[in-house]
Amino acid sequence: MKKTQLITTVLEYNSIEELDSINQELINKAKEATQSSYSPYSKFSVGAAILLGNGVIIQGSNQENSAYPSGLCAERVAMFYANSKYPNIPVKSIAIACYNNGQFLERPIPPCGSCRQVLLETEERHNTPMQVFLYGQKQIFEIENIKQLLPLYFEKDMLDE
Ligand code: THU
Repeated sequence: MKKTQLITTVLEYNSIEELDSINQELINKAKEATQSSYSPYSKFSVGAAILLGNGVIIQGSNQENSAYPSGLCAERVAMFYANSKYPNIPVKSIAIACYNNGQFLERPIPPCGSCRQVLLETEERHNTPMQVFLYGQKQIFEIENIKQLLPLYFEKDMLDE
């Protein structure tokens, strides 16, 4: 028997000012994106902002539907758009923010499992680590890459085994 520990390292900040200006900008773009959320059912407005290797920032927000499963999370709205518009440009980082009940959440919200799977495939596809910033008013988390958020991930090479 072999025991392996899979470790996720999370850097924690208490104020946005502790971050570099480019990361502050990305978080502010994620906060801004919450305002375009279409979430009449959950009333949970999520915004994502993606920084590409060419300096372009792509924003996305969650888009719900009366047929509930047809809706999509903010992260995947932004990620799929980035991949369709700039298929050959790697993604450097993503920021996520959430607005609910008239304010930004105090604690960061992490991406759901399906979004992690999608973000991971983009990270793999470009072979470039994608930094993650999870915004909360009282705490901001930074994670160095998506693999840390999704240990034991499923990937496309496994389809050929
Ligand atoms: N949601 C996101 O957009 N991103 C996440 O990481 C978690 C959940 C959305 C989906 C749905 O519109 C609402 O938040 C409530 O789950």
